[in-house]
Parts: sequence; structure tokens; C-alpha cells
Amino acid sequence: MSAQAQGAPGDWQRDVFRELGGAASAGAAQEAAAPAALPPAPPAPGEPARHGRPLPPPTPVSVPVVGPALDGSGPRHGDPLPRRAGRALRRGLTSSAARQTETATRIARAIQQPITTGRQIAVTSIRGGAGKSTVAALLALTLAHHRHDPVLAVEADPALGTLPRRLGATEIRWSCGDLAGIVDPSMQITDVTGYLLPFAGGGWLLPGSQGTIGARLDVETYRIVMTSLRRWFGTTVVDCETLPAEVARTALTTTQARVLVAPATTAGAATTRSVLDWMGGLHRSMLPTTVVVLVHTAPDMGLDGRRAAEYLGAGGARVIPLPYDRSLAAGGEIRTALLAGATREAAALIAAETMDRAMTRGSSRGGPR
Ligand SMILES: Nc1ncnc2c1ncn2[C@@H]1O[C@H](COP(=O)(O)OP(=O)(O)OP(=O)(O)O)[C@@H](O)[C@H]1O
Ligand SMILES: [Mg+2]
Repeated sequence: MSAQAQGAPGDWQRDVFRELGGAASAGAAQEAAAPAALPPAPPAPGEPARHGRPLPPPTPVSVPVVGPALDGSGPRHGDPLPRRAGRALRRGLTSSAARQTETATRIARAIQQPITTGRQIAVTSIRGGAGKSTVAALLALTLAHHRHDPVLAVEADPALGTLPRRLGATEIRWSCGDLAGIVDPSMQITDVTGYLLPFAGGGWLLPGSQGTIGARLDVETYRIVMTSLRRWFGTTVVDCETLPAEVARTALTTTQARVLVAPATTAGAATTRSVLDWMGGLHRSMLPTTVVVLVHTAPDMGLDGRRAAEYLGAGGARVIPLPYDRSLAAGGEIRTALLAGATREAAALIAAETMDRAMTRGSSRGGPR
């Protein structure tokens, strides 16, 4: 889909710099707004960082993201062949085509809306394996595809998280903890992206760790990374640990919008309702800035979608189902070309609704701390 022209991409970055007390000149903000081209080669071990600051030793060595294909079959398309053929046929025959285009345009506009300060979106859940990393990756890929300003995906779940693999990373060198010790307001975006991994659509990924068992991410590191990187990235998606971990709770209450992922089961809906009630008690802005994604990790999860939407939507959250998709079930890198049509539509809707919500709480100042 072609991206819409937006307001000057430097605007939000200038505002962030102003908000930060003029830490950098408007000229520097303009430089920061320069499109993030190829990442510069990360500094070699022991080499002084740009701007004359020495790197904290030791410099991490790249570690491969392991992911052997054990099922023996190649990547599968989300939709079976007859459905793809049927859809192609219907596209040319039905009068709903115009309506579909209208909806797609409205959704694209919401995703692409201009922003004045960086927006950060936390993705979490009350259950492990609910689909957080998958939803975070779909959201980051959708935003990166549609938006002109830099999109960042942060993995704030260092314990063997799958976000890097979902976004196609093959090896990891720098992670949140490393960047927290390096990041400096005088850096330009091209300096910062040297420590990040590129993903499809022009987005950037900051892994939580090199995938070691027992790796930890403390709240202080999380805060440094998120407050520092906000000046360079228009939108940031954070893949959090399962609640009630402390970093996940911090992310939930300090971002402008949040996505609560739940398995599309009766039990999943019930526990998620408890989390929503707790969130609603923190601040009145919490539920209206929340999107609940009901993930179907199996073809028939047996949940009444309409009733679940009413039950979970009470208080202002928007509830969106993410359908079962064969290409997602296999794990591994998300190849957008293989996603089922319904999955792409759901991902676009999640991105549009989340951006709308992130805009209503323009800065985290008004919300809970
Ligand atoms: N829409 C979908 N269709 C089919 N399978 C899915 C879908 N979404 C997620 N899955 C599968 O569900 C499993 C859990 O997903 P994911 O790793 O994203 O969850 P998570 O909440 O990040 O887990 P963790 O708590 O371990 O971090 C994975 O095997 C993934 O492939
Ligand atoms: Mg995960």
C-alpha cells in the first residue's frame, strides 16, 4: 500500500528536543530526522565510540539467533490455496470492493497520522505464550510498512524471547543493557541505528539479550532505553514480559497506549478482565488507551467473539481478534507475504486502533506514573 504524505517528519523530533530542555539544537533535530539508511558498521571492540566517548568494555560478540527448522516442511501460506483463489475471484466480482478500499484507506490514515512526540506502545499479557511477541512483531511490521518516521521494536522480555526471530534477526550483538550504557543525547540517529538490527519495512529492533537463560532487564535499564530512544523514533513497540513482572507493569503505565494480549479462550478472557479492572483502577485514561487482542493459536478456540468483545470492552478498551494463521503457527520469521488476508487485516486494525489511542494521550504527563 502506498504511504500517504505526512507533515514534516522532523516536527515530532524537534518537539522532543524542546521538551528535553533544548538538549540539542534545532539543526541537530533536523539531522536526527534524516532517513535512517543503512546502519553504520558497529564500532569494533576497543574502538572509541563516535563523539570521543570510550565504549564500556567488553564489546559484545555477535551471537546467532538459533532456530532450526525441525518440522521438515517449508514455510506455509496463512490461507489455503482455494481460499486465496476464491478471494481473488470475488475481488473482481462484488460491489463490496469499494467499501473494502474505503475501510483500508481509513485504517492506513490512522496508522500514518502525523505525530508531534514519539509514541510508545507496550504489548503484554497475563499469561505466557498468549501471543505477545507475535502481536508485537505484527504491530511493528505494520507500522514500519506504513509510516515514514523511524519505527523501533524493543524486546523488554530478555528471557529467551522470540521477538528477534519473529522479525528475522539472524544474530544479536547489542541488547538493551548495552545500549543503556552507551546512549547519549548528542548521538545522531545514524549512530543509534549502528547498535540496532534492521527489519522489514525499514524498522529497527533492539533485542532484550543475546538469548541466554537467566538474562535480566531491570526497570532502570528499561527507563534509560525508553526515555533516550524516544527522541529518535516516532513510534516504539515494546514486547514485554508476562504480567505482573515489574518491567511489564512499568511499561504498561508509562507508555501512551498498550496492547493486552489474551488467548481466545474463556479462561483467557476471564483473567484478562481481572487485569483490565486493575488497570482501570490505576487511572481513568488506562482502559480507553488499551487494545485487547484475542489470539487464536488454534483453528477453533471455542470463544464467542461478540460476547467476549462486550465483556472485555467494558470500560473503554477496544477488542480485536487475531485469527489462527498457519504461517504464524510455525513460529520463526514472520513473512508478511505469506500472512492470511484476515491476519493482515487484523494487524492493520490493531495498528490503527493503537495509534488512535496513543494519540489521545499525547504525552505520558497526564497519565499514571
Ligand atoms: N495468530 C496465530 N495463529 C497461529 N499461531 C499463533 C498465532 N499467534 C501466535 N501463535 C503461536 O502461539 C505461540 C505463542 O506465541 P508467542 O511466542 O508470540 O507468545 P508470547 O506471549 O510472546 O510467549 P512468551 O510468554 O513465551 O513470551 C507461538 O508458537 C506462535 O507461533
Ligand atoms: Mg514472547
